[in-house]
Amino acid sequence: MSVCEFKPGLEGIPAAQSSISFVNGQEGILEYRGLRIEDLAENSTFLETAYLLIWGKLPTKDELIEFEHEVRYHRRIKYRIRDMMKSFPESGHPMDALQASAAALGLFYSRRDLDNPAYIRDAVVRLLATIPTMVAAFQLMRKGNDPVRPRDDLDYSANFLYMLSEREPDPLMARIFDVCLTLHAEHTMNASTFSARVTASTLTDPYAVVASAVGTLGGPLHGGANEEVIGMLEEIGSVENVGSYLEDRLQRKAKIMGFGHRVYKVKDPRATILQKLAEQMFDKFGYDKYYDIAVELERAIAEKLGHKGIYPNVDFYSGLVYRKMGIPTDLFTPVFAIARVAGWLAHWKEQIAENRIFRPTQVYTGHHDVSYTPVEQR
Ligand code: SDX
Repeated sequence: MSVCEFKPGLEGIPAAQSSISFVNGQEGILEYRGLRIEDLAENSTFLETAYLLIWGKLPTKDELIEFEHEVRYHRRIKYRIRDMMKSFPESGHPMDALQASAAALGLFYSRRDLDNPAYIRDAVVRLLATIPTMVAAFQLMRKGNDPVRPRDDLDYSANFLYMLSEREPDPLMARIFDVCLTLHAEHTMNASTFSARVTASTLTDPYAVVASAVGTLGGPLHGGANEEVIGMLEEIGSVENVGSYLEDRLQRKAKIMGFGHRVYKVKDPRATILQKLAEQMFDKFGYDKYYDIAVELERAIAEKLGHKGIYPNVDFYSGLVYRKMGIPTDLFTPVFAIARVAGWLAHWKEQIAENRIFRPTQVYTGHHDVSYTPVEQR
């Protein structure tokens, strides 16, 4: 068998065959099961998109109604998981709380029955339904409040915003949040999805798969960048400071959060849509001065780094949308996780059907035949 050349970060190396999503990084194209992200953002809902990703086709009206009903029915979390979350330190990062509680779901549901479609559907529904509830529950509990019960009369996104704020959200805000979830649902072989597939390939339970992916998503080079972007815009402070900030970062060869991508060498199509959603939010709910700084930073970086294919990625404008929704900055990545559960579950199903454990090789760079030196002689 031929051994491929080692590529750091597996850059350009296919790690799986998949029909779930497709990215053309040169032309800025993203498709979910062949449908363009722009069409789904415009016409679909997150739950319908999740169904498309996981079962490979848009649901009929009856299938969608049944799926939405099942998810609505499973939104509540076990009181023992809620009690466990009560013991988490308020200072803990919500992504760590989410990873722990997602893994805890496995304690209740992890009997593995991967050949049983009913088990697969049950796991899909439970994870899509409970992850938002766990994110919102931790937010209220770390503020010293009791978590609120999900509202069966609210749809998926409106219910999450309600559970987070204890107030029924404006319909436009709920719709824009739902589009954000669709935009973040899936993105081919990104680090957290790869992590999900590796974990799934051992045939462990889907709760461990999602917990593994949550842990991967949290890093600042991946899903954690959206939180860092807001801190960067606050540090810049004004449009006038953009030039000097950028000069300093570039001189230190420091990465600019929210920019660059392993695949996109043009502006991420999701960033384009998120920028428009941010403008819609500002039109209705008031302006955000950080938007001017963001637009100027995008212009300045295109000038300096455009030739390297460094443009805004999905994390650059998303935080400005979430800020205007009143979502705390350290919940931006958990919100990313709520959406990406759909993609991780689609890849989980695809991976268990392939039934081949990931076990790559390595290029060994160590020594051989080293003799043992007793501790007294070291
Ligand atoms: C997500 O993979 C996915 O699909 C992820 C994602 C998804 O939906 O799942 O799209 C979500 O994670 C988006 C990315 C969020 N992360 C950030 O915004 C963090 C900042 N971005 C960089 O860390 C970086 O762009 C990565 C990690 C996103 C991609 O890194 P690569 O492909 O490994 O690129 P690299 O580090 O090898 O850089 C190549 C060149 C270098 O310059 P040279 O050494 O060749 O001169 O581009 C430069 C880098 O210095 N570069 C940047 C930069 N990103 C790359 N320079 C300044 N700022 C940046 N952000």
